[in-house]
Amino acid sequence: MGKINYNNISKIYDDVREEERIIINKFLDEVNISNINKILDVGCGTGNYINILQRITKAKVYGIDASKGMLEKAREKNNDISLKIGLATDIPFKDTNFNFLYMTDVIHHIKDIEKMFLEFQRVLKDGGKVCISTQSHRQIDLRYMTEFFPSTALVDKKRYPDIEKLIKLAEENGFKFLKKQVIGEGENIKLGDRYLELLQKKGYSMLHLISEKNYKKGLNKVKEKMKEGTIIRKSAGGTLIWLTKK
Ligand SMILES: C[S@@+](CC[C@H](N)C(=O)[O-])C[C@H]1O[C@@H](n2cnc3c(N)ncnc32)[C@H](O)[C@@H]1O
Repeated sequence: MGKINYNNISKIYDDVREEERIIINKFLDEVNISNINKILDVGCGTGNYINILQRITKAKVYGIDASKGMLEKAREKNNDISLKIGLATDIPFKDTNFNFLYMTDVIHHIKDIEKMFLEFQRVLKDGGKVCISTQSHRQIDLRYMTEFFPSTALVDKKRYPDIEKLIKLAEENGFKFLKKQVIGEGENIKLGDRYLELLQKKGYSMLHLISEKNYKKGLNKVKEKMKEGTIIRKSAGGTLIWLTKK
């Protein structure tokens, strides 16, 4: 079993991952973007979501990430965005600074979620909103990744917080729960060469957490299936948790 190193993953991250437009659209539906002036992306990675928000809103968009390598990639793509190295549990910004804060595909890396919510509370203005984009344990079971690499579901159900527990922790640490949105579940997805490339480059962090034997076994299963043509599977989708500062 290996370790996740985002400084290494940064070299290939943008070859295999991009922003999900459906998430950007949900932000625009829920947050009155024309009325807000500061947005923070926590765990912004290579900046895929901030770049779009910077283009389509008048708000000033900021990003923090724990990995220098990921931030370097973000800077290569767009030098106009304010990016800082920082942790979700130790945000390098002053109090009551932001109107909207979001986090896509990061919560499973956070060890102390209570401390994270207290930090979110500190840096948000009154009435500020939070969106956490993640996957429920049911969605982890539904992933096509789980069909080919069953041990990834075991490691991820340990890393990903249960959605109801996450909401409870938010409520206990200064937030009002607004709503939960299930997105993209059941959409048909074609798994072709790009998917194989993603797997071969280990573009998803859970592939670094299973044994090499199970990784190779899964990769061979995918290659075998692909001999019959493009694989079509249903997307497991994602879950958005919406909160507001009490
Ligand atoms: C799967 S990537 C998601 C990147 C980006 N949000 C996206 O959706 O493309 C996870 C990111 O979380 C960052 N990360 C991990 N632990 C973190 C922490 N404690 N605080 C801030 N960022 C963290 C990693 O460096 C990595 O860039």
